[in-house]
Amino acid sequence: MCGIIGYVGKKEAYEILIKGLERLEYRGYDSAGVALLSNNVISVYKKKGKVAELKNFIQKTPKGNIGIAHTRWATHGSPSDKNAHPQLSNSGNIAIVHNGIIENYLAIKEVLIKKGYKFKSDTDTEVLVNLIEDIRINGSKKLNLDEAVRLALQKVTGAYAILVLLKDEPDTVVIAKMGSPVVLGIGKEEFFIASDATPIIEYTNKVIYLEDEEMAIIKTNRESNKITIKTINNKIKNPNIHTIKTKIEELEKGGFKHFMLKEIFEQPHAIKDSILGRIKNGKVRMEEIGEYKNNLLNAKRIIILACGTSFHAGLESKYFFEEYSHIPVLVEYASEFRYRKPVIYKDDVVVAISQSGETADTLAAVKLAKEQGATIFSLCNVVGSSISRIAHVPIYTFAGPEIGVASTKAFTTQIAVLLLLCLFIASEKRLLSNKKIQNILTEFENIPQKIEQILLEDKSVKEIALKLYEMQNFIYLGRGYGFPLALEGALKLKEISYIHAEGYTAGEMKHGLLALVDKNMPVLFIANKGSSYEKVVSNIMEVKARNGIVISLITKGDARIKKIVDYVIEIPETSDVMLPFVASIPLQLLAYHIALLRGCEIDKPRNLAKSVTVE
Ligand code: F6R
Repeated sequence: MCGIIGYVGKKEAYEILIKGLERLEYRGYDSAGVALLSNNVISVYKKKGKVAELKNFIQKTPKGNIGIAHTRWATHGSPSDKNAHPQLSNSGNIAIVHNGIIENYLAIKEVLIKKGYKFKSDTDTEVLVNLIEDIRINGSKKLNLDEAVRLALQKVTGAYAILVLLKDEPDTVVIAKMGSPVVLGIGKEEFFIASDATPIIEYTNKVIYLEDEEMAIIKTNRESNKITIKTINNKIKNPNIHTIKTKIEELEKGGFKHFMLKEIFEQPHAIKDSILGRIKNGKVRMEEIGEYKNNLLNAKRIIILACGTSFHAGLESKYFFEEYSHIPVLVEYASEFRYRKPVIYKDDVVVAISQSGETADTLAAVKLAKEQGATIFSLCNVVGSSISRIAHVPIYTFAGPEIGVASTKAFTTQIAVLLLLCLFIASEKRLLSNKKIQNILTEFENIPQKIEQILLEDKSVKEIALKLYEMQNFIYLGRGYGFPLALEGALKLKEISYIHAEGYTAGEMKHGLLALVDKNMPVLFIANKGSSYEKVVSNIMEVKARNGIVISLITKGDARIKKIVDYVIEIPETSDVMLPFVASIPLQLLAYHIALLRGCEIDKPRNLAKSVTVE
């Protein structure tokens, strides 16, 4: 949610900043801007629209070895040139880019207006930059930029990741973080600063993750390069330098038309990578659990906290946990949980699921649960992300960077690792025999191959998309393991094709939803030959009796359903528990092809952004 990038070094900053914005664009794309500092002049260029529009707008490459840039996902103020970042202070001396929300900005704005400050934008960010300016110039002597930023941050509440430049300090960038993520890349005589590591890794793999309420002051000049990290309470911190392993090829489309399609096709590999080393000699190994093993095994309850697709993965895992590890599981929307007064016990285990590891609601919910004594497990795809750093037990999926805003490989790798976690408990508590576990694992290890088979059938999904892409509404129905899939299938369709879609449990259909069914309503059933098969067939008949258009995901060769429905998508035979791995693939492909035919912006759907770092 908003991408920020900065460069301090000896090279021309502009190209690095623009390339960085392009890599970060999945975080927000309604306006973009850069500010360069050269010869004590700050030049700002900003434009409503995507980074490409900013590039067209800037005719002549601006010069400067220090710069900051931003790609926006609007919170305060509509997408427009004036609300785009960087925002300048009234004097034009200070420039800022900001990811987050300053919650008390209106109160601060009123005070600044009384002092004579004028505001050109509707943003909370412009208030912050003027607060920094006011603090800097209003004492007996002018403060250094870092001190002014530090004192200003003591007056604000909310979330921020900011990069700040001052005209009079031409060798300095000040960075600060609360809630929203910032990574500092350490190059040779140069520094990169970004919302996440994606724009940094082509230059360096050495990074520092700034923690909440920390600031970094980077100075570089002919003689020296210096980075100082301290808290906003002025306590100096020793930086922890991490090495990241992501490779640059992972951030490219690799011949696919969209990142989403590439990521759908990467799933066999992503699942293999995520389970690699975690299955050995027919047993599950989860070494990362370490000293927290007993907390997990003795947990009376598991609370899963997540949002969006990660929530659906959590819901899917509830079925795994209940079936195999006999632990009651609550699956909670993090955005609801954190604002209730949830009852949390010391022997609860919380599993926070988040692809990005930065989702603000999930992070806040985890903090709440941790404060109340629960043991926190996290399942993230980004090593070193905020949620992983706060967890007692950080567990990772190894899906590689997910750039398309619609989550695909994150979902299947999350459920893969959650299944292993659940089998680990079952095995340690001797709830399942070794033989049973081995059988499940054998089937599980064949899943990547089954997904490959489904991907080969992409053409048949495309044909169905061609028939249905002009529809206005869709219903997705499933039972048991098929129910979270129905929710996820509907979410995929609505977010990238803008078609209204509802996911429901097929059993609930007759309690209201059926009223929507007529000859214009496509209803997609997850109707594999599993334990709910007969019940789902009855539900299909009920929809057909009301002239609904039925698309069915069926087990390969199922002639019975083929005869009664309008369209089928065949999936290989699996047990109930493996259904989510195979059935999610055609659902992703269907949404993709429909969105493509409707001419939608697949990787960057309107109004959305990857990594939702505001509440
Ligand atoms: C849907 C999607 C979102 C995310 C949600 C949580 O395709 O991508 O619903 O799943 O914003 O994000 P993470 O998993 O990063 O916490």
